[in-house]
Amino acid sequence: MKPLAPLLLSLLFLTSQTVLSFKREEFRNCHQTPFCKRSRARSPGACTLTPHSISISNGDLTATLLSKNDDQIRPLILSLSVYQDGILRLKIDEDYDHPDPAAPKRRFQVPDVIVPEFESKKLWLPRLSTETVGGESSPSTVVYLSDGYDAVLRHDPFEIYIRDKKSGNQKLISLNSHQLFDFEQLRVKQEKQDSDYTEDSGSDDNWEERFRSHTDKRPYGPQSISFDVSFYNAEFVSGIPEHATSLALKPTRGLGVEKDSEPYRLFNLDVFEYLNESPFGLYGSIPLMISHGKEGRSAGFFWLNAAEMQIDVLGDGWDAESGIELVKQKSIDTFWMSEAGIVDAFFFVGPGPKDVVKQYTSVTGRPSMPQLFSIAYHQCRWNYRDEEDVANVDAKFDEHDIPYDVLWLDIEHTDGKRYFTWDPVLFPNPEEMQKKLAAKGRHMVTIVDPHIKRDDSFSLHKEATEKGYYVKDSSEKDFDGWCWPGSSSYLDMVNPEIRSWWGDKFSYENYVGSTPSLYIWNDMNEPSVFNGPEVTMPRDALHHGGIEHRELHNAYGYYFHMATSNGLLKRGGGNDRPFVLSRAFFPGSQRYGSVWTGDNTADWDHLRVSVPMILTLGLTGISFSGADVGGFFGNPEPELLVRWYQLGAFYPFFRAHAHQDTKRREPWLFGEKNTRLIREAIRVRYMLLPYYYTLFREANTTGLPVMRPLWMEFPSDETTFSNDEAFMVGSSLLVQGIYTERAKHASVYLPGKELWYDIRTGATYKGGKTHKLVASEESVPAFQRAGTIIPRKDRLRRSSTQMVNDPYTLVIALNSSQAAEGELYIDDGKSYEFLQGAFIHRRFVFANGKLTSINLAPSSTSKSQFSSKCIIERIILLGYSPGPKNALIEPANQEVQVELGPLMLEGGRGSSVVTIRKPAVQVSDDWTIKIL
Ligand code: NOJ
Repeated sequence: MKPLAPLLLSLLFLTSQTVLSFKREEFRNCHQTPFCKRSRARSPGACTLTPHSISISNGDLTATLLSKNDDQIRPLILSLSVYQDGILRLKIDEDYDHPDPAAPKRRFQVPDVIVPEFESKKLWLPRLSTETVGGESSPSTVVYLSDGYDAVLRHDPFEIYIRDKKSGNQKLISLNSHQLFDFEQLRVKQEKQDSDYTEDSGSDDNWEERFRSHTDKRPYGPQSISFDVSFYNAEFVSGIPEHATSLALKPTRGLGVEKDSEPYRLFNLDVFEYLNESPFGLYGSIPLMISHGKEGRSAGFFWLNAAEMQIDVLGDGWDAESGIELVKQKSIDTFWMSEAGIVDAFFFVGPGPKDVVKQYTSVTGRPSMPQLFSIAYHQCRWNYRDEEDVANVDAKFDEHDIPYDVLWLDIEHTDGKRYFTWDPVLFPNPEEMQKKLAAKGRHMVTIVDPHIKRDDSFSLHKEATEKGYYVKDSSEKDFDGWCWPGSSSYLDMVNPEIRSWWGDKFSYENYVGSTPSLYIWNDMNEPSVFNGPEVTMPRDALHHGGIEHRELHNAYGYYFHMATSNGLLKRGGGNDRPFVLSRAFFPGSQRYGSVWTGDNTADWDHLRVSVPMILTLGLTGISFSGADVGGFFGNPEPELLVRWYQLGAFYPFFRAHAHQDTKRREPWLFGEKNTRLIREAIRVRYMLLPYYYTLFREANTTGLPVMRPLWMEFPSDETTFSNDEAFMVGSSLLVQGIYTERAKHASVYLPGKELWYDIRTGATYKGGKTHKLVASEESVPAFQRAGTIIPRKDRLRRSSTQMVNDPYTLVIALNSSQAAEGELYIDDGKSYEFLQGAFIHRRFVFANGKLTSINLAPSSTSKSQFSSKCIIERIILLGYSPGPKNALIEPANQEVQVELGPLMLEGGRGSSVVTIRKPAVQVSDDWTIKIL
């Protein structure tokens, strides 16, 4: 029999979801989180490296680390490795060879995140070199890191930093400069030590700990790690998603910061109605911080650790009472605390922000290359009711001439929340439904969550139970938690065997009713457990290999995403790129698909905060992300909805979604004018698809995000440092959102020395200035940077698939030297043939009155080739001075007319622009067009 209390509790929770907002008391604050409270209260304590222990083994430096405090149980082992491109890796873990007392188990070191290629970049350390730096009394071991940088390991007190040789050996980034390093070691529980932690007593000397009605048995005692990291000559730090807050992270301690202010929390949680402007941890976690400073200098620090983390950004005066002597070089100090795991930290030297992102993604992997359809527009809602509803919505898009590529089905499409099934009454013919969409080049996405309904007649559950594939509770029984289906269990995705089994469930044979045009949405994978502590799985739940949930919590959703993505890969015979949207994420998630920012709210603040949230994701490797357009909770006013479409059309992942209690809000439901405005916004995205696809390929090869902070493109321009209301799409487009109702004006800062061209009107604006523009209801301000060439496809179709053979338009925005450059990447949009060289990659260069198309693709020796018959039908020249009449195409030696034409075929206003019509050159060929 099922106990009634959790059922009632969950029902209460479910009903309350629809009426109440964010419930702070459901979640722990730092004070209620013993490791956070202990770490924050810590005063500096020295640690030293035993000099004779420092040696080189397997190309790494290793040493023994001892605390000067008496409470160290056994020594710690430190190792330092150096990788190409200025990457330093520091590991600190228990000494498992130490006999007395021996560690009761191995601490969890996150596997499956670092890409295998990274190891081949290791530089073997040849020998040790010892120096006494400056006037210090203790020697340091110095390791060559890369041209211009050394890693310095000070022995006593222990500190590690990177120095920049070009700037007179100034520090760039350091760990433990303030001696806040602490490492709580695993212990064996002694029976009498059960002094419980309670929120009131705040006892430190604890084993078990309680939060609300939950008890965490914590069988190995406290095992947290904390340390300080400083970024020198930095103006601000950003990164460490996911928080609904500004891009430049505000201090959480120090002068002027409220006493009870919280650190930035990294703990994957299903947060109901999350607050804007909060350090509260949301659905995903990436412990990567990037600093940026005046001369355009960036550096990065990444801690690969999947346990709960809390990070303080320490403002001026944070150390007032601690007796710490501040180092003279200006720095931003941060304090990192994690509940468990080991120190596995990476330092990235930059020097620019793009370098840091490249360095980080060389460790955790580049974003996967998405299918073309998946970067177009997605239509979602919780829920499209039945097959008729799906058919109607689909038809209405055509009726209103609005393109879309993907229709989504949320949890209600299943038979009683049993994933991989269909409600037999509402969705009796799923294959036919998908085929009808596919006939228009459209796709479908269905939701598959990680909680499995505990129902003996459900074969997935039966099989998982028999095979012992579920996560266990602390008494080693299958963990039973409450989620959408009611009583549920959760697959132990950290086990590769289970991931592979899960992957097989996506085969057409196993997922009855699925077809090749169906892709997947993974939600609730933090994991969300309605009746669990903080709406998630208890920390003392057990995974494969005896790993405690606390040790891998933040990676659970990552493993689920990975298993699903690999399942789709298998389904497609290894040659169909998976599309899987995930809510939870972790470093490396970029390799498995896209993420979105979860359950936002239909208000202007959430529209505004979507930009820093997506920018932060991009900086930390996750380029393919977006926010629910329109806002998930609540009913947006038409104006907000339109503004959201106008901004969201530039997100890398562009999907409208809404809660089931909201009013229907498909684009045609708000009167003709709003329908037109939304159509225009979506159309702009479709026109820009060739540009976006080229940027996704750039992300795939370099890690650089599609959507970028202004300072990534203009790293030395200080005005951009605090600007997170505008963003760059690639290096050529700047977009400024409008975040207020009935805005009359929009202030837009345009960086750099060159001009910017309004993408709709072609009007020019000077760089290096803030412009007060009249806000247009037609669009949000968007500008093309002078000196760039953007490829477009201008014909209005039903879906991206139907645009494949359409001709291109090139928009050339000339700079003050009458020059410009741009790129275009094309492949089949679907398969992995591009990895064998089956793609077209062109560079377009305009200089001296001549446009040249240059091949960038290496000559492919393999059988895989990609060809395209697409031509270029229009070339638009913005900023071209003389009034040309003709242009000569070479090598065809053919003259074509130059005339005035519209910048956009529909919706564009303003003066006509110089246009070369019908040059009809092939996009895949080498050619030159000379303006006569
Ligand atoms: C929570 C998700 O964040 C939301 O997008 C979805 O609609 C609901 N779960 C129902 O599946």
